[in-house]
Amino acid sequence: MDTGEFYRDTWAEIDLSCIEENIRSFRHLLPDTTEIMAVVKANGYGHGALPVAKTALEAGATYLAVALLDEAVALRKHGIEAPILVLGRTRPEDAGIAAKYRVALTVFQASWVSEASSHLQDGQQIPLHLKVDTGMGRIGTRDKEETQELVRTIEKSPHLELEGVFTHFATADELESPLVEQQFERFSESLAWLKETGAAPRYIHCGNSAASLRFPEQIFNIARIGISMYGLAPSGELKNVLPIPLKEAFALNTRLVHVKKVQPGDTVSYGATYTAKEEEWIGTLPIGYADGWQRRYANQGHAIAGGVKVPFVGRICMDQCMVRLPYEMKVGDPVTLIGEQGSEKISMDDVAVQNDTINYEIPCLITSRVPRIYKKSGRILEKVNVILNF
Ligand SMILES: Cc1ncc(COP(=O)(O)O)c(C=O)c1O
Repeated sequence: MDTGEFYRDTWAEIDLSCIEENIRSFRHLLPDTTEIMAVVKANGYGHGALPVAKTALEAGATYLAVALLDEAVALRKHGIEAPILVLGRTRPEDAGIAAKYRVALTVFQASWVSEASSHLQDGQQIPLHLKVDTGMGRIGTRDKEETQELVRTIEKSPHLELEGVFTHFATADELESPLVEQQFERFSESLAWLKETGAAPRYIHCGNSAASLRFPEQIFNIARIGISMYGLAPSGELKNVLPIPLKEAFALNTRLVHVKKVQPGDTVSYGATYTAKEEEWIGTLPIGYADGWQRRYANQGHAIAGGVKVPFVGRICMDQCMVRLPYEMKVGDPVTLIGEQGSEKISMDDVAVQNDTINYEIPCLITSRVPRIYKKSGRILEKVNVILNF
């Protein structure tokens, strides 16, 4: 999808060279026998599933993962041929869609297997990845009987093939968590249960970004890399001990649409929660909570204008918000909300910490109303504007 242009002064810039370098760094870190599954769910953590998937595959990933069947179908419809795994539960009645689009599904309920199989026709086949819950407490089989019954039910169906077995860590991003070791042990145990049934799936996986960064030799034969492919550390703790450089791909920019001088006592925005203490220059930015610049960011944090950090003042409105400028700036001057300007930088982590959340959430929240500009090697590759394309 490339509508070419957009007609607003707020946009995200995604540097695909960073994604490429991050995947290459993981390729060097991981053993040659460990493949990379690039996690592009939630529209590539807000970065754009299609361009990220293409870049990751070119850079060495061999598999893609999404959360929903719809996300997998969308990638297929845009020409992605690589294998795709849906990490969440797919409705059994939609198994035919998975077969049609050659999508691998996650499975953890024997009843699901029988039902899905009944929705498939002669010649239709889907690869399945069995999910074991070793401590995340979300989805997955939890005991031997349940796991082996599931494997046997899969074996009975001519339509289903057990391609993989996997689990997901709850605390791999915490350096001192004993749960990680426990989950490794429970996963080994489940692999033994599988062996007893005679099943030998091609893929065994447990490494999200954090586990892949910390235990590259122990995460079996495919790593599920999400957050760090986008250049972000899985946690503050891990940021200090990264074995590879991570390059942040996402920047968020806007421009001043209005600049005015206010007097002491004048207030700014809904609720009049900000009061000028002296004569102040206030700049208005055309970005608000409908763009994913959340209302809870009110009166917190900074943007960068004129190469200096400028504080947000007053409540964030649906489409606009305000910053206090150190001097009179011009309408049209660029303002960086995430990224670098001059010698200043605001990272995704800065925004996350400031707003009491994790870096994962920030780009996911930037809505489709914000056009994305894709760059590679300093050149613009593509502009995507969903407003003109809904
Ligand atoms: C099952 C599963 N695997 C892998 C990932 C990727 O994790 P990360 O983004 O921490 O690399 C996720 C993300 O939430 C996930 O749910």
